[in-house]
Amino acid sequence: MTAAIHAGESVDRTTGALAAPIYQTATFAFESAQAKEDAVDASMEGSPDAYFYSRTSNPTNRVLEEKVAALEGAEDALACASGMGAISAVLFSQLTAGDHLVLSDNLFVITEILINQTLRPLGIEVTPVDISDLEAIRAAIRPNTRMIFTESITNPYMRFADLSAIAEISRDAGAKFVVDNTFFTPSLLKPLAFGADIVVHSATKYLSGHGDTVSGIVAGSAADMGLARIQMDALGAAASPFNSWLVARGVRTLPLRMRQHSANGHAIAEVLRDHPEVDWVRYPGLDTDAAHDVASKYMPNGFGGMISFRMTKGKPAMATFCESLELAGVAVSLGDLHTLAYPMPKRDFMVRLSVGCEDPDDLIADVTQALDKVAAL
Ligand SMILES: Cc1ncc(COP(=O)(O)O)c(C=O)c1O
Repeated sequence: MTAAIHAGESVDRTTGALAAPIYQTATFAFESAQAKEDAVDASMEGSPDAYFYSRTSNPTNRVLEEKVAALEGAEDALACASGMGAISAVLFSQLTAGDHLVLSDNLFVITEILINQTLRPLGIEVTPVDISDLEAIRAAIRPNTRMIFTESITNPYMRFADLSAIAEISRDAGAKFVVDNTFFTPSLLKPLAFGADIVVHSATKYLSGHGDTVSGIVAGSAADMGLARIQMDALGAAASPFNSWLVARGVRTLPLRMRQHSANGHAIAEVLRDHPEVDWVRYPGLDTDAAHDVASKYMPNGFGGMISFRMTKGKPAMATFCESLELAGVAVSLGDLHTLAYPMPKRDFMVRLSVGCEDPDDLIADVTQALDKVAAL
């Protein structure tokens, strides 16, 4: 909690403002031509706080970067326009034609599109694997493997990545191990502590927490963040200072919110597991879940608020359940205070729930009445 509140923050030098100001500026003015040149040179050499232009770096973005770096246990971090901006900055800064990427075969769909429709045609080889199958990962390694990329738990099938074991495979291969930690956040899981090299986030989700902005962030070594910053800058994926201010505001309460998301997620997962209309449910906190044993080794503070499940009545059940919920929005995205239900007609009519921070009894009552409507179909 202390790092979430204090890291990256300092009293404003000019005004004494305690809350970090929003430096809503495109450019920065200098006393002299030489001072401008020195700042540009320092920035180009990797100094993240040599401000000269806000596409490259900005003091409000820096507050967020230092805060997330502290929470992830990273040397440095880089704020980006979106989660996809963050993922793009990492992939473009680490991979080049002729390199091989071992990729989880289940990922957020736009990450898959970026890799399959942009990176592959540029000459990057890709092998998709079931990331919960260590033998399959080992078998996929080639002499030119430069990266293993996965989500800490995959979206939406909820396959858990055994981070220490994958990090060892990656190290032996001389590859970078990159983990999208959007679903868990550093409050529940710190991939760098288990051997990952780089962590990425859609900060749109839990880090921001309030569903009111789009943002992304990368964390890792200072050297890797320097490379990612050059690509973020070239791709035009810069974070807006206002968005970073909102996300930093959200991160200050992240540990409190993740506690509530985890308690509520667990309670709802149990309701779903025990209901006769539910065919299967995936939530790593359930002791009946395939990922439970391995996830328990990594996650002493809870398992978050994301659940995927399918009802036996398939398509009509998916629609009836989602439309009957009174507290949940039927929407894409996740990690909001507000519960969100995401029906997936293209994925066998499963439903992904992002369980919010409402009172657990209210959520249980709402999910139960929606399941009752499904039972009456
Ligand atoms: C796991 C994961 N990673 C990355 C992204 C992309 O983030 P953004 O929407 O902020 O670009 C998403 C978006 O849903 C996601 O779920």
